[in-house]
Amino acid sequence: MEQNKDLNQFDIPLAKRIQSNNFNSILLKNLLIFSPLFFLLFSIFALRLIRNIDIGSLGYHDFQAEINHDQRILGHLPYAEISKEKLVLIEPNIKVHIDMQDSLLKMRDEAKKDGIYLVFLSGYRSINLQNEIFYSLKSVRNQVAAERARVSAPPGYSEHSTGFAIDIGDANQRETDFETEFENTDAFKWLIKNAAKFHFKLSFTKENQYIDYEPWHWRYEGSIEALKVFESSNSKS
Ligand code: DAL
Ligand code: ZN
Repeated sequence: MEQNKDLNQFDIPLAKRIQSNNFNSILLKNLLIFSPLFFLLFSIFALRLIRNIDIGSLGYHDFQAEINHDQRILGHLPYAEISKEKLVLIEPNIKVHIDMQDSLLKMRDEAKKDGIYLVFLSGYRSINLQNEIFYSLKSVRNQVAAERARVSAPPGYSEHSTGFAIDIGDANQRETDFETEFENTDAFKWLIKNAAKFHFKLSFTKENQYIDYEPWHWRYEGSIEALKVFESSNSKS
């Protein structure tokens, strides 16, 4: 009896070991059988993770573009008002940024030598004046803001507030002042051929998707300050 009891004591752990071995081998077998499935599931998960990361980073770029895009109001980029100390009077009623004074006057002189008479129509405009121009005319013309913004910048969004913009007409064809027909004048043809020599660029071309074509409106890009001011516009429009 005593001996049997002892044997039983030995039997129990042995039985347990056999059970455990069985369990392990079943587990191993299952693992082997299902390993291709596990591998497949893992691959799908990994691929999805990579794709999500890619989409995430693309989303980030889009978000940046959104931020830049959102700076615009009705298609116009924001421009700070230039400080009064940097303004100079070039005509009884026209002030411009001091950086562009020499170049602008030189351009007019050179045009004159070619028999072309440029007239300066509008230079620096304060944000207050731009406010008047935008809202008063909007009201007089019974226009909604989006319609008005095709031809005029909202206050705080005009290149004219920087002092680097100038509207130009032809002294011999004043009826084309601020009109698309200005593009048919000798003055405009001369400007298209020569303005870049004096660092002037047409701001609102026919390609601009937000603002109507303005053949009379030129901006100066002949100083680092001017280039900084127009960096956003040059990199996006
Ligand atoms: N006419 C241009 C867009 C301005 O108002 O600045
Ligand atoms: Zn203008």
